[in-house]
Amino acid sequence: MPAKTPTRRETAATTADHPSGDPRFKLIDRTLKRFQYQQDALIEVLHTAQEAFGFLEEDLLIYVAHQLKLPLSWVYGVATFYHFFSLKPQGEHSCIICMGTACYVKRAAEIVALLQQEFGIEAGQTTPDGKLSISTARCIGSCGLAPVLVIDGEVVGRETPEGTVARVRALLTAKKPEPVPVEG
Ligand code: FES
Repeated sequence: MPAKTPTRRETAATTADHPSGDPRFKLIDRTLKRFQYQQDALIEVLHTAQEAFGFLEEDLLIYVAHQLKLPLSWVYGVATFYHFFSLKPQGEHSCIICMGTACYVKRAAEIVALLQQEFGIEAGQTTPDGKLSISTARCIGSCGLAPVLVIDGEVVGRETPEGTVARVRALLTAKKPEPVPVEG
């Protein structure tokens, strides 16, 4: 049987922009549709929203709550409970320090204290130049490597406070590769 051609109205409905005009909302809408607007897809939807926007601004939480017909307080509670969600803009580089028990007994708190001292920000903050964000997490499941860090998405194990600062400094001073000129 040939596929039914969508009517003009159906086409308009599927390509309609979000009232803000921001096309990134389409990515959220796609995830919402994939999960048929089920409330237990909240974490998936928040992941998509964070990937699209970088962090979860309040208007995104309101949008998701509205679409899933959930109380905003519930959505806000989930977004703040999980360490992988961020409600503030993140720096160009990130350093997450695991503060779970195994890491804590292996000097994780000293790592946080030295980073705070060296870069002048607390865990949960970003440097004023937007280059570095520091945050802490609960156990990230690699306790055998304690103390564990996640630097720009890469898991680093058995690091000292001084070694951590050196790694982060190296990241901040690393030159970005020059764009290769296109000939033609
Ligand atoms: S406590 Fe840090 S990875 Fe488990």
